[in-house]
Amino acid sequence: MHRDLKTGPTLILAPIRGITDVVYREAFARCFGGFDRAVAPYLQPRRGHALRPVELRQVDPELNRGMKTIPQLLTNDPQTFVDALFELSDAGHMEVNWNLGCPSPNVAGRGRGAGLLPHPQRIDEILTYVLAKTPVKLSVKIRLGYKEPDEHLAVIDVLNRHSLTEVTLHARTGEQMYGGVADVARAEEALACCRHPFVYNGDITDPHDFSELQQRLAGAAGWMIGRGALMSPFLPLILKEAGDVVEADAGWSALPVPAVRGPRLRQFHDLLFDGYGQWLSGPGHLLDRMAAQWSYLAHSFADPKQVATRLGRCRDVSTYRTAVDWAFDQML
Ligand SMILES: Cc1cc2nc3c(=O)[nH]c(=O)nc-3n(C[C@H](O)[C@H](O)[C@H](O)COP(=O)(O)O)c2cc1C
Repeated sequence: MHRDLKTGPTLILAPIRGITDVVYREAFARCFGGFDRAVAPYLQPRRGHALRPVELRQVDPELNRGMKTIPQLLTNDPQTFVDALFELSDAGHMEVNWNLGCPSPNVAGRGRGAGLLPHPQRIDEILTYVLAKTPVKLSVKIRLGYKEPDEHLAVIDVLNRHSLTEVTLHARTGEQMYGGVADVARAEEALACCRHPFVYNGDITDPHDFSELQQRLAGAAGWMIGRGALMSPFLPLILKEAGDVVEADAGWSALPVPAVRGPRLRQFHDLLFDGYGQWLSGPGHLLDRMAAQWSYLAHSFADPKQVATRLGRCRDVSTYRTAVDWAFDQML
């Protein structure tokens, strides 16, 4: 099993578009920690165009010093892919992740993201072209399939023939989007077939389930966590420290006491608010971005629905600040 006993299991922050951007990653690293690295939400290079400065800034290693960040690309055009890899290499990156999992109809429906999974031959052609020219290493993030849950088997067969640093599997089909439950049994099969370091992703939300997953997927090289950490930001550190050594249910007892938890979450919130204030133009964009953050952050409060609704409704900054104070007062 790939595990450094000193540092616990390898934990990777999942890319969640609109949420786990540079502001989020830096604030998270300062307030909670626990992640070894992050994969950034995808950049979508356009044929014949350079990546935009604002996209490159999102993954700029200088601005991401708190959490090592691997950029992710969403494309099915081999030369566009290679051009973007050179740009990312020039920007200081040594590894890039290829998105083969995005299920959104206008992505997958156009043969990108999860839309490539039914076409292993095409994936093979793209990788053959790109890996012959790339200046950086490549990892891949896949799903079980686009519509059929066994499509990944032929895809892994192809991936096994190429030189990759890592394969991450989100154990759902594209059609499932983010609903239903992750299929751990199929992830076990995938792990057994995959000759690359294998990262499991899907529904890691508490220490008990994580402990079970670690037993079932004992050869996994890492664990990617998205919504579980967004809703419970102390989770990665708890998993890191508890690993599977401590009794599963004891994991949550590592949660800081409320007197620490509230102020830490508040600090996190304030870093997000100030950070987005600098990145985004105007209060409308700022409040929209904070509303998206609250849809996850609210789960750290006693009544998540009430908190998310009130914070999501604010139309001016002064009402918003009052609502934030109200939410945190409730927590104490
Ligand atoms: C709103 C949203 C945006 C996402 N954006 C990306 C993305 O840019 N790239 C990617 O590979 N996966 C993306 N994902 C998928 C997540 O990285 C992850 O695979 C999925 O949420 C399952 O993990 P979880 O159960 O730990 O959240 C996104 C998921 C959501 C809900």
